[in-house]
Order: sequence, then C-alpha cells, then structure tokens
Amino acid sequence: MPEWLKDAVFYEIYPQSYYDSNNDGIGDLQGIISKLDEVRKLGCNALWINPCFDSPFLDGGYDVSDYKKVAPRYGTNDDLKELFEKAHAMGIRVFLDLVPGHTSDRHPWFLESKKDEENEYSGRYVWTGHAFEGIKDHPYISGMTPRGGAYMLNFFASQPALNYGWLKRTEKWMSAVDSKEALATREALKDIIRFWLDMGCDGYRVDMADSLVKNDDENKSATAAIWRDIRNMLDHDYPEAALVSEWSNPVQAINGGGFHMDFYLDHHGNGYNTLLRDYETEGGDNSYFRKDGEGDITRFLNDYLPKYNATKENGYIAMFTCNHDTPRPARTLSDREMKLFAGFLMTMPGVPFVYYGDEIGMRYLDVRTKEGGYHRTGSRTPMQWDTSANYGFSKAEPEQIYLPQDSAEDAPVLSTQKADPDSLYNTYKALIAFRHSHRDLQADGDFQVILGEKGRPFVYQRGEMVIVINPSQSGAALSLEELAGKKAVFVIGSADTAHIGAQSFAVFL
Ligand code: NOJ
Repeated sequence: MPEWLKDAVFYEIYPQSYYDSNNDGIGDLQGIISKLDEVRKLGCNALWINPCFDSPFLDGGYDVSDYKKVAPRYGTNDDLKELFEKAHAMGIRVFLDLVPGHTSDRHPWFLESKKDEENEYSGRYVWTGHAFEGIKDHPYISGMTPRGGAYMLNFFASQPALNYGWLKRTEKWMSAVDSKEALATREALKDIIRFWLDMGCDGYRVDMADSLVKNDDENKSATAAIWRDIRNMLDHDYPEAALVSEWSNPVQAINGGGFHMDFYLDHHGNGYNTLLRDYETEGGDNSYFRKDGEGDITRFLNDYLPKYNATKENGYIAMFTCNHDTPRPARTLSDREMKLFAGFLMTMPGVPFVYYGDEIGMRYLDVRTKEGGYHRTGSRTPMQWDTSANYGFSKAEPEQIYLPQDSAEDAPVLSTQKADPDSLYNTYKALIAFRHSHRDLQADGDFQVILGEKGRPFVYQRGEMVIVINPSQSGAALSLEELAGKKAVFVIGSADTAHIGAQSFAVFL
C-alpha cells in the first residue's frame, strides 16, 4: 500500500471545464498545468482527471477510441507528460481515468471485431453466435454489423462491452474467463495501464470496475480476480501507484479485488446519499446536513460502519463532495450546510475527493445536455475563476464556451471567495490544511463513533481528537467524558466542551 495515500486529498478535474489555455472555448491540459498552483493552494495533493483520450465524445470521453492518445482538443501526449512532471514538482500526484469495460464503437478493435472475417479482434468484445440471437438480461445491438452476431453493450449504445469472459456459461458463444480471447483482453488492459504509468501517471480511477466478467457470482469473484492480478502487477512493478474503483462495494473491491480505494457512491440505498443527497424520501429532503432534515446520522452509520470495519485493514473508502455524474451539493445545501459537510469529509477516515468547483459551492445548472451528459451536464459547467468574461475560464466568445455558465448575480467565484476569510473556499482550504497537519486525521487513522443517534449531535473520535457535528437549527448541550480536558481547536459556528451551537462543527483536542 503506497504510504502517500494516507495523507492524500484528491481534486477531480473534468478537463473540458477547468481552464481553456488556447481560447477555443474548451478546457485543456495546458490549462490544467497553468492552474496547478491553485490545486496546491487549496491543499489538494492528488488529481483525478476524467478521460482525456481520443474519443467521439458520445459519453463525455467514457467512449474511448484510442487509449494511448490524448484527445486533440485537450492537447498531446507530450502535454500530459508535462502535466505529470510539473504536478510532481509541486508534490501533486495525477490519476487518469481508466475505462476497462467498454470502448467506443469507433475504436479500431471494434472496427475489426465487427467484420465478418475472423481476425485478431473477433473475440475482443462480447458477441452472440448469430444476428438473431440476443443476450438474456443484458442490452445488446444486432443487425448493424457485417458480422452475424449481436454485441453486448456496457452502457450507452456507442459502448460495446469488452470480453473478459463469462463465469456462468450457458451459451456456446460465451467465452470462459481463462479463454485465449478473454486473457488477451486482460493483457491489452494491462498494457494500457503500463503505458501511462511508464510516462509518469500515478494511478487510475477505474470506471465501472465491477463490470468485467459477465454472469459473475454474487461476490463478483471472477471480476475481482482480474483486479487482483492487476494489483499484483502494480505491487511488483509500480509499488507507488494506486487504483480507486467505481464499484461502491468496498468488501468486493478492496478485499476481493485488491483496490487501494473504493468510491462510496450515490447509489440507491447507500448511506452516503443520506448525508447530502437524500433521494430516498418522497417529496422531501432529509439529508443529514440540512438544518431542516431529521438529523438522522444512523442511516449513514448503519450502512457505512460495517463496510468500514470490514475493509479498514486493506484499503480506504473514498468519499467525495460530488462527481461528474452526481448533482452538486449546492443544489440542495446552503453555504453553511456545505461547510459542515466539508468538516465531516475532511475529518473522516479514508480518502476525500473534492470535485472542481465544489470548493466554492458552484451550482448545479439547468442546462441542455452535452456529449451524453443528460441530467449530469448541470454538474459539468466551466469553473468560475474570477469576475472577468466567462468567469475567467476562457477568452473565447461566450457562445463558443463548452457549456453555459451560472448567470446568477451571486454566482460563486473563486477570486471573490479567496478575499473573504469566511468563504466556503477558505473553509475548505483551512480544513484540508488541518487534515494534513494531524496524523490522527489521515486515511488510516483510528475512527470510533462516540454518539451516533437520531436528533443528537454526531460525535466521533479520531485518535486523540473528538469531532462534534450539529447540523440542526438548535444548539445542544454536550456532556461527554471524552471531551474532558480538551479544547476546541477548529470550529465552524460555535462550540465549547459543554455546548455546540446550531449548525456547528468542532474538533476538540
Ligand atoms: C461511469 C462514469 O462516471 C460515467 O460518467 C460514464 O457515463 C459511465 N461510467 C460509463 O462509462
């Protein structure tokens, strides 16, 4: 396990929307390079960059047509190499986004695979035996290719599923997990992983990591075995590199697959949702961090604690403010509520991820879909750097900008927030610095719940520290022996050892 992960605070960049260095209206790699100092100033020491590879962009770049080539709209492979080098010089690691389960249907592998004549790539994707035979319980397309067969989809219609084999094989055309063609796909994946690591990349966020082997068992053990194999390769050849999975099942991903980290996603039924995206309640929002929510942390804890306890020796749960698929926190939370969530995120175990713009509370915007974003597009709008034209994102004409920006008069802007000591930005910055300066708060530090009841402050221990969170609109008395002899060392709102104010967060040491 790479040591550096213990103190990692990631920053996710959607490259289209971070900074446009060449004034064509879309973000690019040189833009990211020129803003690395902003990442450092915020205190983040690792980046996750969404797919920046050649692609027809029918799914924001998650439809890769060349895994080894930077999309021209973002720059060149040399720019990416420069980004690795400049980031490293500032103490920042860089993760790319690995899409192992599918490619674009314009990937050369697929162009070969769909040919009628048998060739090296015929078995690279999941195909049925003939055009009139579909795939039970899975999406597929037939009748569109010279090859007589239906091909399986992993996501959108433009994303055919790569063939890693089937665990339970009920049809003749289903490859075994250890078949020549399934192993060839796995080797091709390893080759891609090596390609960027050799160039200086520090690891990957892995898209739909659980999707590799079809008809897997309930523990996804065949898919996990592939990732174990890849983890062994990393441990052996790239011991400082790491992987974070989009799996949202840490027991399977970390304990089974050997992932260093697994994202705790906004999936239906997940405890994470109950914190700031309570999609479960009909007609109301009972997110824990809302002052008018029910203040029920047990919904989170009942789901999180078993997962945390089962995986804490092997890897880290990664929690985020948001990502490019989820509504931004500002959609439903006030500035103060977001500050309290930031306090929580930066004092919990595991590895925190901040999505670009969430540090200033950028809003979820009601914009038209772009590049397969659909409702997700509202969380992908360009960064609001300053009060100049296009919020300083680009010098292109406004109508050329990748996506519309927030037209509200009080739209959050980084330059303004920097000047305000009480801003969300400065709260994030202070919390991240605080996390870095206390060993107890790091990813692997001890974590114990002291008080986790509905309607009462949430209190937990991290080593010598005690954290108290009260999102409610009324203050609460505290009477906890764990607070004896301690004093508040970080406060949002008001707190002392006997009382926590309304909508307050405090760390006692
Ligand atoms: C998850 C990614 O986060 C999302 O943006 C993408 O559309 C799907 N996987 C398919 O790759």
